[in-house]
Amino acid sequence: MTSNANQYTWAGRFSEPVSDLVKRYTASVDFDKRMWRQDICGSLAHARMLAKQGIISAQDLADIERGMAQVAQEIEAGQLEWSIDLEDVHLNVEKRLTALVGDAGKRLHTGRSRNDQVATDIRLYLRDAIDDIQVLLKQFRSALVDLAEKEAATPMPGFTHLQVAQPVTFGHHMLAYFEMFGRDAERFADTRKRVNRLPLGAAALAGTTYPIDREFVAAELGFEGVCENSLDAVSDRDFAIEFTSACALLMMHVSRLSEELVMWMSPRIGFIQIADRFCTGSSIMPQKKNPDVPELARGKTGRVYGQLLSLLTLMKSQPLAYNKDNQEDKEPLFDAVDTVTDTLRIFADMAGGITVRAENMQAALTQGFATATDLADYLVKKGLPFRDAHEAVGHAVKAAEAKGVDLPQLTLDEIRAFCPQVENDVFAVLTVAGSLASRKHIGGTAPEQVKAAIGRARQRLG
Ligand code: ARG
Repeated sequence: MTSNANQYTWAGRFSEPVSDLVKRYTASVDFDKRMWRQDICGSLAHARMLAKQGIISAQDLADIERGMAQVAQEIEAGQLEWSIDLEDVHLNVEKRLTALVGDAGKRLHTGRSRNDQVATDIRLYLRDAIDDIQVLLKQFRSALVDLAEKEAATPMPGFTHLQVAQPVTFGHHMLAYFEMFGRDAERFADTRKRVNRLPLGAAALAGTTYPIDREFVAAELGFEGVCENSLDAVSDRDFAIEFTSACALLMMHVSRLSEELVMWMSPRIGFIQIADRFCTGSSIMPQKKNPDVPELARGKTGRVYGQLLSLLTLMKSQPLAYNKDNQEDKEPLFDAVDTVTDTLRIFADMAGGITVRAENMQAALTQGFATATDLADYLVKKGLPFRDAHEAVGHAVKAAEAKGVDLPQLTLDEIRAFCPQVENDVFAVLTVAGSLASRKHIGGTAPEQVKAAIGRARQRLG
């Protein structure tokens, strides 16, 4: 009698146990045990359905519920000994349940396969992760609005090509990120709709012969509906790819902000300080205070991109239906979840620890002819075609550069040498305050508009 020479629940048709190496290679419990809550929830919903449909008895259900409560308690307390002999979270939980309640535990798997079970667990897990991420995104976005409000009227140079372009306010700059992270939140909300569908009932791939009620299980688990096709239900992980892609986009936004924070904190730029609790020192250079958090976040972005590519490649060319390849979906997915949640949590906190050094931003604004476009616009309003105005101002900038001053420091006569239409009122538009105030349409950087945008942002946050 060799067929049960190993402990696997499926050992019946095998004549020798798997080698230790294969056991380690195929086991997933080390990483999928983190889905134990979802696994138990899914099993309980399935068991309730089986009882309601008369597929198992009310007594079996009562035993399963009692047993699962204890399994949950043991796991929570760190008492369950996870075994790689039992491959994955599903078989570990089921085995412990059966040890506690006997035959009822063995009936739990009626009309179910690990294929639809694991797909259900991941969807439940991801749904929770999305809900957590939404809470964190909201906290982070509200911290960005707080910072924007504090600095709604603080002028800074806006850059294109990293060259001083036109004045903006720091608040306006922060609200740009508010928008980006808002779209990220929308993407997660949209992904959630496709995550939130029930695979259970698909069984291994073709459905099951028992008179199951999938709608009931879906309602029990808070799913919006069932996966329509059993083959699709057990095999596709597009929802996980979509989720990770939303994570990758979010991290891309994080990396852009991080890059700016790192630059702004460089003493050569000096636009901001980041509170000490988010920075670290150097083991050799006593003077150093490094923006490690944004640097690491910038680095971790690549990590999430990598997880996305892993998942895309994992799914590529997989024939229907379930293949063991899919077991490899979990580590990239979990890592993306961890990276994004940790990053958002720390960024929400760090946003409150950013101090703006307005004097340095102001100084930078006097160095790049930031109001040159305002002068060109002024000339257009005096009747010059824009292209001619652009050229005339170009000459004025050249003259200012040669003299080593900014545009407002040129005399009226010096400006008139290039732009004869100019009058004394030009100096109002050449100032940073004038430049800011004149961009007063929706989406513009005029402080009054920034304040209005902050009001709308708060409303959108709810
Ligand atoms: N641990 C497996 C996974 O993560 C569970 C499903 C296994 N199904 C199977 N027939 N081997 O995908």
